[in-house]
Amino acid sequence: MIDKVKNSFKKIYAREADFLVKAPGRINLIGEHTDYNGGLVFPAAIDKCMYFAFAKNDSKVGNVYAVDLEEKATIDLEDLQKTNSIWLNYIVGLLLEFQNKGLELNGFDCVFSSDIPMGAGMSSSAALECGFAMGMDHIIGADLGNWEMIDMSHHSNHTFMNIQGGIMDQFSSLFGKKDKCLLLNCSDRSFGYHDIDLKDYTIVLFNTNLKHEHTSSGYNNRASECKQIEELLQVHDPQIKSISEANEDMIEKIGSDWPQNLKDRANFVIAENKRVVAFSKVMKHGNVDALGELLYQSHHGLQHLYKVSCPELDLLVDLTRDIKEVLGARMMGGGFGGCTINLIKSDRVEAITQDIMSMYKDALGIDAESYLVKISEGAKVLLF
Ligand code: GLA
Repeated sequence: MIDKVKNSFKKIYAREADFLVKAPGRINLIGEHTDYNGGLVFPAAIDKCMYFAFAKNDSKVGNVYAVDLEEKATIDLEDLQKTNSIWLNYIVGLLLEFQNKGLELNGFDCVFSSDIPMGAGMSSSAALECGFAMGMDHIIGADLGNWEMIDMSHHSNHTFMNIQGGIMDQFSSLFGKKDKCLLLNCSDRSFGYHDIDLKDYTIVLFNTNLKHEHTSSGYNNRASECKQIEELLQVHDPQIKSISEANEDMIEKIGSDWPQNLKDRANFVIAENKRVVAFSKVMKHGNVDALGELLYQSHHGLQHLYKVSCPELDLLVDLTRDIKEVLGARMMGGGFGGCTINLIKSDRVEAITQDIMSMYKDALGIDAESYLVKISEGAKVLLF
C-alpha cells in the first residue's frame, strides 16, 4: 500500500511526495449506538488502513487523487464548496474546520488509497477524515492534538455532511494501540487501554456485502429519536444530559406514556452500556465463555429494540447460533448492512467461515466476504 500511494503520487504529480499518513479503520467489540448517547464503547483500531501521500504546493489549491476510484479533484482553498462527491465532501468539510479555527491553509497535492472495505461498517470514512486531518495538520504545522481532530471531524459530520454521528470511529482511528481495545466513556471522554485476551478464539468479520449510507439508512433518524428522549428526560430532570444517565426504572416511570419506539431505544442504550462494562470485566478475568452471550444479547437489542439490523445481518448471526465453536456474534457499526463480528474457535475459523459463506449464498444469492483483522496502532505520519 505504501509503494502504491508513493508511486501513484509520482505518476500524477511528476514529483516525490514529502510524507505519508496511515489511518486505520476500526472494529467495535461491543457498545453500539451508545457513542452519540453519552455512553460506553469498546472499539479497537485494525490493520486495514487508508494511506495518503502528501506534498505542499505553492498555489491556493488542493489537488487530491483517489487512487481506488480513479477520481481527481481540485479544491479552491479560497472558496470551499460542497460537491457531488461524498469522499471529496469529507475533505472539504475538514478544510472548512481548519479555516474556522483561524488556521491558514496551504496548497497541497495528495493521493490516497485504502484496503478498508467500503461500506462494511469498518469506518473507512473516519480513516479518510483522520488521515486527511493529520496530513493537513502536518503541512501547516498547526500541531493539533487528537481530540481537536476528533472534534473537527465530528463537527464537520454534523454541519457539513449531515451525519449526526458520535466520536467512536475517529477516536479509534487516532488513539488505537497494537493489541489493545479502548474502553471510552463518550460523556466525559475518559478512556483506558485493555489487553485483548480471547484465549483460543479469533475475531472474524463477515460482510453482508450490502452497501449502506448513513444519511439514507435511518442512522440520523435514530440519533434524532435519541435527542427527543433526552428532551423528554430533561423535562423531569434538567440535569440529565444523555440517555446513558437514565436507568430502566426511570424509563418505566417517566416514559409510561411515551411511544413504544422511544422506550425501546432508551432501554437498548441503557442495557448496551451495562454490557460494555460486563464485557470488559469478563475479558479482564479471562472468562471468555461469557463473552459470547453478551454479543448475542447486543445483537438481539440492536435487532428488536434499536432496530438498526437488517435480514442479511440477522441471517449471518443466526447461522452461527448452532455452531458450538462460535462463542457469539452480533452486527457491528451503524447497521442496515455492513459486517457482523464473530468470536470463533481459532482452529475452526476456516471451516466455519466456508460453511457460513456458502449457507448465506444459498439463502440470499449474495457472496458474503470474511476478514481476519489484527488490532493495530492508530493513525500516524510516516516520514521518509
Ligand atoms: C457508526 C458511527 C459511530 C457509531 C456507530 C454505531 O459507525 O460513525 O459514531 O455511532 O455507527 O455504534
